[in-house]
Amino acid sequence: TLSIIKPDAVERNLIEEIKQEFKNKGFNILKEKKIKLEKSEAEKFYKVHQSKPFYNDLCSYLSSGPIVVMILERESAVVENRKLMGATDPTKAEEGTIRKKYGISIDKNSVHGSDSLENAKIEIDFFFKD
Ligand code: CMP
Repeated sequence: TLSIIKPDAVERNLIEEIKQEFKNKGFNILKEKKIKLEKSEAEKFYKVHQSKPFYNDLCSYLSSGPIVVMILERESAVVENRKLMGATDPTKAEEGTIRKKYGISIDKNSVHGSDSLENAKIEIDFFFKD
């Protein structure tokens, strides 16, 4: 699956702490890189959300600072990563989840994870196609 540590978490120096959360749950980090997106790239990445009212703010936010993109590997990686991240809105996320622990708001929710195997392939290609 593809995981992103978002600008709010990078800014607060949480990269190593969040990577450890994944490792503790049995994920291998196959590839990772720290990058800064242009807004146009964020718009492409979040294209599935283009009709949503929050699309513009979302793309501005993802391109507002450095992020860490990672390919995470384990059995049932998509589902297990979504469990570990918790609900999109940190105030609704369960105890022990990454978004509960580190998320600030529904926008600044610290991590992104692919929502299906199909999107995982698309998102991994987006960042790691050589
Ligand atoms: P993410 O998993 O990266 O996918 C899309 C993002 O849109 C989501 O996390 C949230 O950070 C953001 N977002 C902002 N507002 C909303 C909303 N009302 N519903 C869902 N996602 C939202």
